[in-house]
Amino acid sequence: MNYSNLLIENRERILYITINRESKLNALNKATLAELHDVITGSTHDDEVGGLIITGAGQKAFVAGADISEFADFNADEGRELAREGQIKVFDVIQNHSKPVIAAINGFALGGGLELAMACHIRVAANGAKMGLPEVSLGLIPGYGGTQRLTELIGKGRAMEMIMTADMINAEEAYRTGLVNHIFEFDELLTKAAELMKKIMTRSPFAVGCAIRAINAASTDGIDGYETEISEFSNCFGSEDFREGVAAFLAKRKAEFTGR
Ligand code: COA
Repeated sequence: MNYSNLLIENRERILYITINRESKLNALNKATLAELHDVITGSTHDDEVGGLIITGAGQKAFVAGADISEFADFNADEGRELAREGQIKVFDVIQNHSKPVIAAINGFALGGGLELAMACHIRVAANGAKMGLPEVSLGLIPGYGGTQRLTELIGKGRAMEMIMTADMINAEEAYRTGLVNHIFEFDELLTKAAELMKKIMTRSPFAVGCAIRAINAASTDGIDGYETEISEFSNCFGSEDFREGVAAFLAKRKAEFTGR
């Protein structure tokens, strides 16, 4: 697939996905979502990819939301389909990715943009970034998982206020409330996100994948997260990474993980 809305680059096994519709503040139109689905699913089994960093082109926006012009005349059924398809094909795929996914929030992350960042495993922000779920000001609510993931990340009371007021918060407040893990200078954002990713990539990829699944189970309805943890813990014992990690520790050398 040729990407006309994304820039894709693999450096040192980190796949950088840059949403590249700067003139529309990187708003997520249908074509961009289809490209995201393609590149993210494709990275799952690509041995050249150890982790993914998602960011937005330019200085102004990470993603300023779903593309409003595309759903302006939708009816209820089309609205349902828009949300369902987006959630299944992009947002859930990111959340359930077995490799680490970091959102590097370089500017506005609004609506579907913040929802995209919240589907990622970790968020870091540039110090001027602004985040919000402004859908109620359009007569809508978040539809790409925002009501659920914001509640998990910052708690019900704060999520209620952010969603009902449609207010944006700045990077400091996002950090204070746990929405982002770190704030960096804009110029350092990608370098620092890559440093964090590289640290994760020195660990067992097999175990990191198990950890992602176990942590995700904490907020998956109908699943006992403790049982998932037991099962994923057990899986680790069957991995080459476990043999290597323990052997390296005992031999006082650095582990060379294969992810198997
Ligand atoms: N969908 C479609 N187009 C969008 C967009 C979106 N979510 N967000 C921004 N754009 C477009 C604007 O229409 C404008 O296009 P134009 O130059 O062809 O008119 C361009 O991006 C620049 O945006 P503009 O609004 O002129 O920039 P600004 O600096 O005045 O304001 C924002 C920046 C982020 C405050 C403002 O663009 C905004 O509120 N965007 C919508 C956010 C939103 O409600 N997202 C949730 C959608 S469900």
